[in-house]
Amino acid sequence: MLSKSKKLFTDAKKLIPSGVNSPVRYFEPYPFFVSKSQGSSLWDEDGKQLIDFCNGYGALLLGHRRKEIISSVLKQLNRGTLFCAPTELEIILSKLIIGNFPSMKKVRLVNTGGEATMTAIRLARGYTKKKKIIKFEGCYHGAHDSVLVKAGSGSAHHGISVSEGGLDEVSKNTLVVQYNNSQELEQVIKKNKDIAGVIVEPILANMGLILPEKNFLSDIRKITKQHNIPLIFDEVVTGFRVSPGGAQQHFRIKPDITTLGKALGNGFAIAAVGGREEIMNQLTPAGKVYQASTYAGNPISVCAAISSVKTMNKLKNKLYPKLERYCILLARAIDDLANDLKIPHQINFSGSMFQIFFTNKPVVDYKTCKKSDSKKFNKLFHSLLKNRIFIAPSQFETVFLSDAHTKNDLEKTLNAYHSALKSVKS
Ligand SMILES: Cc1ncc(COP(=O)(O)O)c(C=O)c1O
Repeated sequence: MLSKSKKLFTDAKKLIPSGVNSPVRYFEPYPFFVSKSQGSSLWDEDGKQLIDFCNGYGALLLGHRRKEIISSVLKQLNRGTLFCAPTELEIILSKLIIGNFPSMKKVRLVNTGGEATMTAIRLARGYTKKKKIIKFEGCYHGAHDSVLVKAGSGSAHHGISVSEGGLDEVSKNTLVVQYNNSQELEQVIKKNKDIAGVIVEPILANMGLILPEKNFLSDIRKITKQHNIPLIFDEVVTGFRVSPGGAQQHFRIKPDITTLGKALGNGFAIAAVGGREEIMNQLTPAGKVYQASTYAGNPISVCAAISSVKTMNKLKNKLYPKLERYCILLARAIDDLANDLKIPHQINFSGSMFQIFFTNKPVVDYKTCKKSDSKKFNKLFHSLLKNRIFIAPSQFETVFLSDAHTKNDLEKTLNAYHSALKSVKS
């Protein structure tokens, strides 16, 4: 008998390009289709329960259908879903965000992380009246032309689009340097007088997981300050996940602009861009930097975010230590299993995120990450899936824990990793 997912995928492919609404959701031979979720689990259309470590690519820090969030959203559904006029809820949420992220003096609510980084970059350009952006290779900031670039092969730093249809005229204004290389950043800044901003994921969660080396973030803060260049921390993943005040609280660095998303709404579409007052005041209508969206600040997402932030703040003394404890437990145990099996590997972990790489050299940037054996990772992914553990299907994503994971989940997960690593070895 055909699985329901297989049948649904056949139907989906006829209507939706590649059968998916975001490319990372696709994997061979076909993705499973989800019918519902609760806590740490997803159920597929065939009724199979899977323990979820993809967690909305990091969004579901509090787990699926967290009761505090669902009940506040249900109440708001009875009051209205979209007003396109301001609400007091937006003030409440802005106060909460600014309370957690003191580097933000003002904040605008948007819908997606990509919208937030697009606005952050436009703000940096509008504020400095300069053109070029510097990004670090392997960092992901959304699917828009300024950031969907990789290092060009000829000229060392001018970006080229990673997408057909991406404009080279735009990509060439993004300069690409290696993560964890502040010297390279300084050289590029010295060579180019037209730098409007530097954007970085303070912990790189889009190349598997890559941690900033000691002093990397403080060095890039020093360098950007010296040259009067706004520093953008893209905390779409790390915001609320690494600590209530994100990576900037953890590393004690004050960026000029910050973007948030994912865990802010814990499963509802909301993101934010905020920063220094004189930069944020550039936004229209008072300023001249344009940003707009019909659904920005919609009361459903705002309600969900208020409830998420309040819950994370209330539970912070238990929540973050628990996530870290569980993550260390998993990462160390997987490391031991791989060592016992003599599989060359690296494990990077931090807070509630980890990833395994099949390579014998430390993974510290794009180049070292690319050296890991993604065929082995693919074997690992499929074996885990067979044993009902769902991690993101790509080596270049991260394994995310949520507050809903239990000790029992971890035990099942470790058993599944054990079998999966054996299949990698064979
Ligand atoms: C660090 C980072 N920034 C921005 C984005 C884009 O967010 P969205 O997918 O909500 O547009 C992502 C998405 O994964 C991300 O990981």
